[in-house]
This record gives sequence, structure tokens and C-alpha cells, in this order.
Amino acid sequence: MLSITLFLGLAFSFSLDTTSSKSVCLAAKYIIDGEMDYYEGIRYGGTVGMFQQPYYWWHAAEAMNSWIDYYTYCQSDNSTLRTLIQDAIIHQADSNYHFEPKNQSSVEANDDQGMWGMALAQAVEREFPTVEGKPTWLEMLETMVSRLYDRVDDTCGGGLRWQMSEDRNGYTYKNTITNGILFNLAARLARYTSNDKYVSIASEIWYWSKDVGYIVEDDGYLVYDGGHVDLDCLDYDKTSWLYIYGVYMAGNAYLHSYTDKKRWLKNVQKLWASSSRLFFDDGVMYEPSCMDDDDCNDDQRAFRSLFARNLKLTSLLMSKVADEINTKLKLTSKAVAQLCSGGTDGVTCGQDWRKSGWDEVYGLGEQMCAMEVVLSNVVKVPSKQ
Ligand SMILES: *[C@@H]1O[C@H](CO)[C@@H](O)[C@H](O)[C@H]1NC(C)=O
Ligand SMILES: *[C@@H]1O[C@H](CO)[C@@H](O)[C@H](O)[C@H]1NC(C)=O
Repeated sequence: MLSITLFLGLAFSFSLDTTSSKSVCLAAKYIIDGEMDYYEGIRYGGTVGMFQQPYYWWHAAEAMNSWIDYYTYCQSDNSTLRTLIQDAIIHQADSNYHFEPKNQSSVEANDDQGMWGMALAQAVEREFPTVEGKPTWLEMLETMVSRLYDRVDDTCGGGLRWQMSEDRNGYTYKNTITNGILFNLAARLARYTSNDKYVSIASEIWYWSKDVGYIVEDDGYLVYDGGHVDLDCLDYDKTSWLYIYGVYMAGNAYLHSYTDKKRWLKNVQKLWASSSRLFFDDGVMYEPSCMDDDDCNDDQRAFRSLFARNLKLTSLLMSKVADEINTKLKLTSKAVAQLCSGGTDGVTCGQDWRKSGWDEVYGLGEQMCAMEVVLSNVVKVPSKQ
């Protein structure tokens, strides 16, 4: 019996027709089912809004983005799924809706909090139903952006530190992912609310990121990881992580969509020029900074999820780069689908999409990255107020 099940399982995999929303949504269903295997919130005694170890709080935030898109474009009549997502976000928002829950106080950095902000922004832009008696997603997001912005200080001329509190290792580090997320969130709020206050926050963070030397011209823009305040932030860690390019790129696309100013368009083109060169191999997305050595940790294994979503958002907002981005996302979609053919269910996703067939690497990160790429074929232009 077991061998028959296994055989049937292994013989299975989903095919993907990227032009059919039915096919895309079916693929997404297989992938989210795989994610649910790691979700604590539906287990007896499990914490709502959290995944099992070794996955962190930020993984949960990241997963919410594609769940909201999946609900919006594939399952909008599924009240079970809707409630599951609402419960997760509301529980992790904590009683004051600041997304600074006590349980995470030993690990939570500004970028982790900002990751929940991304989920809120997705909820806002997809008009995901709010929960009665609770603040709206927009209210929570505006509060968060203001709390993050309040933590910007003068060391190295501005910008956010990685960590929130002095007693944490990394408090002296100012990095691009943290600032890129604040930039991205402010840009999205600018477009959604038409409030210019957010354009100034976004501009300030963008120009600081450049002035401090973290974003540099080099056949496009290279984006470094960060530097330390005791060294004036000049000790650059020059590693290129693709998701950071993604959050800065989409932020620029939102600003361009709202202001119609050429400078934001040019930034997108430069970030895309370097991204398309660095992070694709024969049109298939990959993360060179850890995949080249076959040494990606649990965080890094989820980075392509953010990159894929932000690329798609960019393409939806900016027709000048849309064709090029969509061509690569389609090629990557095909590669992802053929790799999601492993495990006992026969639809477990793998890591290196450049390979043929399942590569036996599996986990929440692999599911999340695949989910965003697959959903990129059905998501639409974000809404605004
Ligand atoms: C609705 O969503 C839940 C939670 O993801 C899922 O278990 C269920 O299969 C979905 N229902 C349908 C009809 O797809
Ligand atoms: C904090 O941890 C406790 C104990 O595991 C759990 O019951 C509670 O739901 C958690 N709170 C949050 C916001 O995750």
C-alpha cells in the first residue's frame, strides 16, 4: 500500500499554463497546501500567525503577502481562508496593533517589523477585508511607518538602524533592507493616500541610501548590504541580495506612478538593469550570493519571494520595463512548476529552479518563493484610495 501511494505521489506534478488563471490558481493551491504543513496557526496549541521552527516571525509576515494575493485572485469566496489570514495578522499585531509583540522582543529588528508592514500594504492595496472592531490595515500601516520613521537618527547622516534596541547585536549596523523596506512602504502609502508627506519620507530614505554610498552606479545600480555607524557606515558589506534590489525597485515604481517624475523612472531602469544581469540565469531567477556556493540559510531561502513580488508590482506600475520583467517571470514560472514535483505529495517545491526536476531541497522558503512566482501570472495593478 505504502509503495503504491509513494509511486502515485512521485508520478504526480502540476503543469502550469501561465495564460490560464485556472491553471495558475490550481498550482498555487498545491503550493499553499504545502505551506500549511508548516503553519502552526491551524494546529492544536499552535500560535496563530506563526510557522513552526526554524522559521522566524518575518517568514510568517512574508507568507501573508502571497496568501492575500491568493485569496484575492483565486479564492475570494473562501471565508475560511479569509478568516485564517485576518486572524494571523491581527494576532501578531499584538494588542496595540504596533507589531511589536513581546514574544518577538528578543529577535525583532526594524526590518522584521517592516515585513509585517509589507503584508499590511498588500492588504491595503488588495482591499483585503478588514476585521470589524479593529483598526483598518491602512491605519496600522500608517502607524507603523511613523514608528519606523521616528527611529531614524543622525549617525551616518540619517537612515534606520537594523535593530530597534541598543542591547541588540546589530544596533550599530545601518543596512539597506531595513531602509529599503521603509522606503518601499512610504512610497506605497504616497501612491495609495496621495499624501505628499510620504513622498518626502521616501525621498529622504532613498537619497540617504545613495549618499551614504550603499547604492552605487555601476552599469545600473548596485545595492550593498550596509555598514556600521562607528565607522561612518563606510565599511561596506558589498554583498548583493536580490530582495533588496526588489524593494527599492518597486518603491521607485510606486513613486513614479504617483508623481510622474522622471528620476524615479530612471532609478527603476537602473535597478532593473543590474537585477536582470545579476539574478537571472537563462531567464530563470536565482540568488547568486548563496546559491553559487550552495549555502543558503533559512532566511536566504525565502528572499526570492520578496524579489518576485516586488518585480511583479514594478511591472504592473511601469510599462517601460513591464515586457522585460514579465518575460523573465514567465520563464521562471515554467522552471518553478517543473521543480515542484517532489516529496510524498509529488508537488513539493525545490530550491534551484535552474535544475531539471525536484532537487530534494524543501521547506517553507521554497514554497513561498514558488508561490510568488506562480501568482505573478494573475495579480493586477494595486489599487489606490
Ligand atoms: C478554503 O481555504 C481553506 C484554508 O486554506 C482550505 O483548506 C480549503 O480547501 C479552501 N476551500 C476551497 C473550496 O478551496
Ligand atoms: C506568545 O506566546 C504564547 C505562548 O506560546 C502564545 O500563546 C501567544 O499566542 C503568543 N503571542 C503572539 C502574539 O504570538
